[in-house]
Amino acid sequence: MGKDDIYVALLGLGTVGMGVYKVMKTQESQMQQKLNSVLHIKKILVRDAKKHAGDVDDPSMLTESYKEIIEDPEIRIVIEVIGGMEPAYTYIRDAICAGKSVVTANKDLIAERGGELMALAEEHHVDLRFEASVAGGIPIISPLKNSLAANEISQVMGIVNGTTNYILTKMTEEGMDYEEALQEATALGYAEADPTADVEGYDAGRKIAIMATIAFHSRVTFQDVYTEGITKITAKDIEYAKTLGWVIKLIALARNTDTGIEVRVHPMLIPADHPLATVGGSYNAVYVHGDAVEDVMFYGRGAGEMPTASAVMGDVFSVARHTAYDSQGSTRDNVYRNIPVKSIENTKSSYFLRMEVEDKPGVLASIASIFGNNSVSIKQVIQRDKIENNAELVIITSEVKERHIRDALLVLHSSSVVKGVSSVIRVY
Ligand code: NAP
Ligand code: HSE
Repeated sequence: MGKDDIYVALLGLGTVGMGVYKVMKTQESQMQQKLNSVLHIKKILVRDAKKHAGDVDDPSMLTESYKEIIEDPEIRIVIEVIGGMEPAYTYIRDAICAGKSVVTANKDLIAERGGELMALAEEHHVDLRFEASVAGGIPIISPLKNSLAANEISQVMGIVNGTTNYILTKMTEEGMDYEEALQEATALGYAEADPTADVEGYDAGRKIAIMATIAFHSRVTFQDVYTEGITKITAKDIEYAKTLGWVIKLIALARNTDTGIEVRVHPMLIPADHPLATVGGSYNAVYVHGDAVEDVMFYGRGAGEMPTASAVMGDVFSVARHTAYDSQGSTRDNVYRNIPVKSIENTKSSYFLRMEVEDKPGVLASIASIFGNNSVSIKQVIQRDKIENNAELVIITSEVKERHIRDALLVLHSSSVVKGVSSVIRVY
């Protein structure tokens, strides 16, 4: 081993793992100039070495034993791209305790146990970095921690899931069926191993929890995030949205308000001329509002092999610089506040409601009184289509408390004139 050589281990050789392997090779010739050292992958942990033998130039790098990695003192950096809670948690914890720095793309783990792992990394004087865990190739963790550190950040809002953004874009622009769009997103390597995490909003929920913790200096975990996915969005909703000059996006939102932190993920109708409305396909974007900087937006590929590998390798390069100068261990999440997280019932929004009602005189008045009795003010009513003998009604409300809309919905569901409420979507 030369004094400028730094050995790393890669855990997992799936979509992101392969990307990391490729970037490592293409960057090899410039590492000395960029890092004052040269990175070498010494071991790659896989479950089945035979299955992956054709994926790498030298199959002897492949191992099925984590022990070989953890007990190898030459390996200074461990890159975890397996995903999920276990065995990833145990592997990362053991690597840190063995004095190795860790780079991970694992939002599940960071959103739930990031605080504990960062404290452990500090204690063991090693780095723990996770830029790729949020919004794929977009640099957002480092800007929140460093470039925007002198701001009081009041809001982080964005499209942070590539799979769902790809699905909604295909449904909106090409009229593609939901299932077909999901299959395409999976084939392109955007979806999680279990795409339920994408389509139900859990993946975006984990990412907004990570960003909110850093932005507001107060611990926000995935359990604090209200999540609603895109599985109930229909072609009809998309069509209404278009007619009204809106698009439907899965939005992740975190606000630090006087009454606590609001943190949620749900579909939202946003004006077609809003910058987030034009973020299509697997692209993501994150809007941050800080008191000094005002608004900044980060935009780029939110998922996929090479964009995600770009973020992972950016972290690996930073750690390599620290390793070369023996300056690891400065990773902290700077959580020094304890701000309560508001329940979704106490947040406010405007709503789009699509319902089927009896088509006879007095129905509109009866529905209006249900809203009125529950402190929900109506902004717009659209009656356009008929479904058999019933009328389809779309109601847009003014900004109201979530608990008021929930109360109104309970009464609407039991009303004899309402045949069904098909959609309830928040409006920007
Ligand atoms: P993936 O394609 O499913 O790859 C995961 C790999 O880990 C698979 O090759 C799997 O092996 C391997 N693996 C599973 N359990 C293992 C174990 N016990 N020991 C060794 N290897 C094991 O997933 P991915 O898309 O690359 O995602 C990896 C991580 O990056 C996840 O945390 C994900 O959330 C995150 N991420 C992904 C993207 C993206 O666009 N894909 C973007 C940002 C972040 P087998 O081949 O044997 O199944
Ligand atoms: N499944 C995730 C997505 C990968 O679709 O955004 C990137 O984190």
